[in-house]
Amino acid sequence: MSKAKYQQIIDDILLQIQEGKLESGMKLPTQRSLASQYNVNRSTVIQALEILHSYGTIESKPRKGMFITDNKWNTYLNDNIQWQSYISHSTTKNNQYFIQRINELEFKPQLQRLSTGELNPNLIPNSKFQKILSECSIESLNSNYEYPLGNLKLREAIVNHVQQWGIQCTVDQVCITSGALQGLKLIADGLLVPKSDIIIETPSYINSIRTWHNIRAKLKALPISTIKKNINHIFNNSNHFRHSLFYTIPTCHNPTQNNYTNTERMKIVQQCQQQGIPIVEDDVYGELYFHHQRPQPLKSLDKNDNILYLGSLSKTVSPGLRIGWIIGKTSVISHLADLKMQNDYGASSISQFIAAQWLANPQYHHQHIQNLKEKLLIKRDQFLQSLNKYFNQLGSWDIPTGSFYIWFNLYRTIDMKQLFDLAVQHNILINPGEIYSVDAKQAIRFSYAYIEIDKIDHSLKILSELIIKLQNIDCE
Ligand SMILES: Cc1ncc(COP(=O)(O)O)c(C=O)c1O
Repeated sequence: MSKAKYQQIIDDILLQIQEGKLESGMKLPTQRSLASQYNVNRSTVIQALEILHSYGTIESKPRKGMFITDNKWNTYLNDNIQWQSYISHSTTKNNQYFIQRINELEFKPQLQRLSTGELNPNLIPNSKFQKILSECSIESLNSNYEYPLGNLKLREAIVNHVQQWGIQCTVDQVCITSGALQGLKLIADGLLVPKSDIIIETPSYINSIRTWHNIRAKLKALPISTIKKNINHIFNNSNHFRHSLFYTIPTCHNPTQNNYTNTERMKIVQQCQQQGIPIVEDDVYGELYFHHQRPQPLKSLDKNDNILYLGSLSKTVSPGLRIGWIIGKTSVISHLADLKMQNDYGASSISQFIAAQWLANPQYHHQHIQNLKEKLLIKRDQFLQSLNKYFNQLGSWDIPTGSFYIWFNLYRTIDMKQLFDLAVQHNILINPGEIYSVDAKQAIRFSYAYIEIDKIDHSLKILSELIIKLQNIDCE
């Protein structure tokens, strides 16, 4: 006779402790998640948890949930080092709940990714990379460590590349990083202190990573609408901004797709200059502005080396190359390059080589970007058409003028975690807006960059049905 279901749950949790998969201090999933994981009713989960509680194996913390205790029984079951105690005392915090789940789920091939901020593999020029490597001479290929600032040819190519948008710099003002993300990390490590006041737009990509949250500096969130409304006095309370910095994505903003107008750009640069607030301009999407001329980077308006400019090949060419760059004042750049050496001794030199050949050959890059924008536009239009078909009554969105994203706001409240789980059960993956702002609980960041064009309509239809279902449940 098979064991009762509650006993199977108890056995499984004890086995996980024995195998070291669950350690003292770790939080158990919610009752609802456990019920769906073990395919049982919530009452069965409650029964199992009560018994584990009576053993002293788990404990309940008010408003936090159930945790594995550090009692002798658990230590007896698992005689290993209590790694959880090391993890929970680390100053670096793990990703937020949704991001951790998305990072795992993205690798399940059956899931349709309605929100992924990455190009579909068929938009990445792998054949060109192969050509670059097969045609290069052995002597030109360096696979040793590179200069602290990065491969010289690549830096020269970047100096020329950014010049087309009016950014004037020299090779010693450019530091190659392992993606723009590492640039953000270097800035956090090298320029910010716990007492910094960091001003960020909200919602923002920066909230989806913990890079700046880890240094325990204060993050002052300014809604983009407030910045635009108060464009003549953005930093009114500047006295409060000690050791401050303003992080902005002025072009094809992630997730909202905001673009500041030229006047707004000038005012932002002027006011930061007047208030002595350095700007970190994240421009990883600017090149994917669909219309003929992209908005000017803030950096091209910078006369005083007040701006640190971040670029990357991740969104335009390939995220796996892990090639990004920071452009700024020479002394700051050499400081950040020194930290970079402490971090990883440089981005992959093979990637830097490929990137140098790629960017030094404007024909490759230019043709690729034109082609990419055309394909993204076709996908965007398909996405918008399906949104119009299924989501018109459910919420609102703006038409993106570049890059990947559509910021969708629901008219009526639903439990976004429930929608996320339900969508996964129907093989659909979404990025809830909460990832980008605590105030965006009713938003979803869509992306047309990854999903195959012929999967967009069906996936959006299913998602709209799930939203309606949840709204109806809420009304009952
Ligand atoms: C605004 C923004 N900045 C930086 C990054 C990180 O890019 P990279 O892959 O170059 O590290 C991303 C990636 O999603 C992003 O959206």
